[in-house]
Amino acid sequence: GDSKKDQLIQMHEDSVELYHHILVNTTAGEEALQYLLDRGLTMETIETFKIGFSPKERTVLLQYLQGKEYTEQQMEESGLFITRENGDKMDRFSNRILFPVENQQGKVVALSGRLFKVTENPHFNEPKYLNSPETYLFNKRKVLFNYKRARSTIRKEKEAILFEGFMDVISAYQAGVTNALATMGTSLTNEQIHMLDRITDKIVVAYDGDNAGIEATKRATDLLTEETHFDVEVVSFPEGLDPDDYIKQKSPESFVEFVRHGRDTLFNFKMRYYRKSLNLNNESERLGYIEKILNEMLTIPSAVEREVYLKQLSEEFDLTLETLKEQFQQTFYAYQ
Ligand code: GTP
Ligand code: MN
Ligand code: MN
Ligand code: MN
Ligand code: MN
Repeated sequence: GDSKKDQLIQMHEDSVELYHHILVNTTAGEEALQYLLDRGLTMETIETFKIGFSPKERTVLLQYLQGKEYTEQQMEESGLFITRENGDKMDRFSNRILFPVENQQGKVVALSGRLFKVTENPHFNEPKYLNSPETYLFNKRKVLFNYKRARSTIRKEKEAILFEGFMDVISAYQAGVTNALATMGTSLTNEQIHMLDRITDKIVVAYDGDNAGIEATKRATDLLTEETHFDVEVVSFPEGLDPDDYIKQKSPESFVEFVRHGRDTLFNFKMRYYRKSLNLNNESERLGYIEKILNEMLTIPSAVEREVYLKQLSEEFDLTLETLKEQFQQTFYAYQ
């Protein structure tokens, strides 16, 4: 085996254990724990995902691991520490709620820490989430949050649900949607698409219900259909809500219902997507839109489905089905 890797993973597992202990068993973790409970997480979920807390003092993990005979170099390479100007190490994560990030084998290879209260620092400009840096263990292009835990359900249900945030994955898991994954805040990579392709043929993209989420959905669905043959569906959350917000605002039950039955076909998503930035009263924008939709239709293998969408278009723009079909044939032959 790769003993360097094993050691670094062991260091991460030790860190997760310490930080989890601090969160659930100590007064230092009380406030952070209350924050998570207020967000609706149960103790069981906190256990399952081994969520933790790094106190403000920046030598807590340092001292803990120094008591375990790791070498200076291993500490250096773990990404769990930063170096002060005087050369001393200190904990990278301070005063943050910590989420273990696991590799495909379910081993912890990184941490992500969330701020949960505004500090007294007047020059407050820290990021909401702070991730481990890229290390020998951690390449965020190759990580899908919850991959190992979700894998068997994904295979059984023959689909994976993709969220934007890992908090969404955790909340959905608690609500009973256990086949969900998230990237670590980046757009989908080829490596991640390959990981998905090994376990399923169908992806449900369920990103945040804001403009950034809609744009990210377009990019993700393009990537999922360009090089691979995924069957793709889209869940569009109401304006301003992400999956976790939706669970809190409605209920876990209505969330499950919405994720299972509130889906759009990829085609319907694209129609809405192209339409949102257009003024369809403008004739040339309208024609451009129809052309775009007809082009999209070329990618639909099912004649029955194409017919349904043609009909939808003809009703929406008050064009006869014949006119659209004629145009569609032209478009089609142009691409042969
Ligand atoms: P909550 O506010 O805790 O509900 O977060 P969220 O799950 O709604 O996350 P959000 O929609 O803001 O962002 C989606 C994902 O992008 C997160 O899960 C992170 O992986 C990533 N992300 C968000 N903010 C930051 C940040 O400040 N820094 C980094 N590195 N990643 C971030
Ligand atoms: Mn496949
Ligand atoms: Mn967002
Ligand atoms: Mn979000
Ligand atoms: Mn959120």
